[in-house]
Amino acid sequence: MNVLIIGNGGREHAIAQALKKSPKVDKLYAMKGNAGIGEIAELVNLDYCDIKAVGDWVDAHKEIDYTVIAPDDPLALGLADELESRGHRVFGPRKNAAIIEASKAFSKELMKKYGIPTAKYETFSNYEEAEQYIKTCDIPVVLKADGLALGKGVLICKTREEAEAGLKEMMLDKKFGLAGSKVVVEEFLEGPEVSALAFTDGKTIKPMITSCDHKRAYDNDEGLNTGGMGTFSPAPFYGEKTEKEVMEKIMLPTVSAMNAEGRTFKGVLYFGLMKTKDGMKVIEYNSRFGDPETQVILPMLKTDLMEIFEAVTDERLADINIEWEDGACVCVVLASGGYPESYEKGKEISVGDLDEGVVLCHAGTALKEGKLVTSGGRVLGVCAKGETLEAARKKAYANVEKIHFEKMHYRKDIGIKYKNVEREYDYDLQNFC
Ligand code: AMP
Ligand code: GLY
Repeated sequence: MNVLIIGNGGREHAIAQALKKSPKVDKLYAMKGNAGIGEIAELVNLDYCDIKAVGDWVDAHKEIDYTVIAPDDPLALGLADELESRGHRVFGPRKNAAIIEASKAFSKELMKKYGIPTAKYETFSNYEEAEQYIKTCDIPVVLKADGLALGKGVLICKTREEAEAGLKEMMLDKKFGLAGSKVVVEEFLEGPEVSALAFTDGKTIKPMITSCDHKRAYDNDEGLNTGGMGTFSPAPFYGEKTEKEVMEKIMLPTVSAMNAEGRTFKGVLYFGLMKTKDGMKVIEYNSRFGDPETQVILPMLKTDLMEIFEAVTDERLADINIEWEDGACVCVVLASGGYPESYEKGKEISVGDLDEGVVLCHAGTALKEGKLVTSGGRVLGVCAKGETLEAARKKAYANVEKIHFEKMHYRKDIGIKYKNVEREYDYDLQNFC
């Protein structure tokens, strides 16, 4: 079959590489893709947020048998609905289910209504009311713009002054655009964070292996929040006990809650979780694969990804056995100097001979006059597997050394975080995992 992948980042390159391995897949197409995806897929240069134009394109290209919608924006805009209504097969939730990511006010309300553990919160559309509330709540406090804001619409405020200024930025100065017309004011939680992704067809939910993201731009979690500067898999503090707790208290109740609301979710549900002293709590939901989580998850998948996608579409996920490799995987993101703020594009990238098994996931790359150049903030993900996290880490960083472009920036501490998690968070070791 011929498969169209919607998206153009490292996540989409990882999906393309996994689908390329499937005996079921003949040819890949990607809209819009990047230089790396272009090596294994035919690129389609169309704005994928123009959902009607995408629908017309897929209608006109009868050779496309299946479409995978990876990014949040087209999902929130209803691309899955658009394609399904035209009789096409898709992977990705409908608009009424993608809202679980697209509106934080919706997801918080859902968790409250169905008793899914999360931080306490209040939602405000009125600035004066929010300002009054902030005067009374505990500090630190977390402010979240309601809508999609590229992972940047969250402010952790350590003082009341910071909270007041942040609220003003969101609600009055519209720093995050319309996303900030409604604001969630949330209790600050502490603990290690884990990205727990799962496939679901609305009846069955099957978790993937876990991973940990590094959202801040610089080492030791300093600097601004980014889309993610690197990941490793699996999370060291996520044993069978935690897995069971998350399945019973978070994953299954979320799938049921969405069904009860008439918003059946089919696709990848991403649970951003925090291990607090009071148990696992949901920090956020995403309605899609994570980026750069996917770059460390899919290389560990033994099962045919296309088979899983089709099982989700056809609601027979229960019949599929999903298997994962042992060991660990690390992805180090190479970014343009200045990211997540302003950065230059068009820098030539040189890639030396990489060690066997090391996979490059292209994000912001393009071909210009036959040369590989940078075209975005996050440029490449260098991904390596190993028997242990330490081995995977060493291999990834040894290969980072072989890649160069002007003003290249990357974190040196991917995979180190949470090494001493019991001590850092003062946990009882025996009851930890
Ligand atoms: P989100 O976009 O909701 O995932 O938030 C981005 C990041 O902000 C998370 O990965 C956490 O590190 C942090 N964060 C969000 N909500 C909270 C909270 N209630 N308490 C502490 N940290 C939080
Ligand atoms: N890496 C965070 C995300 O995909 O939302």
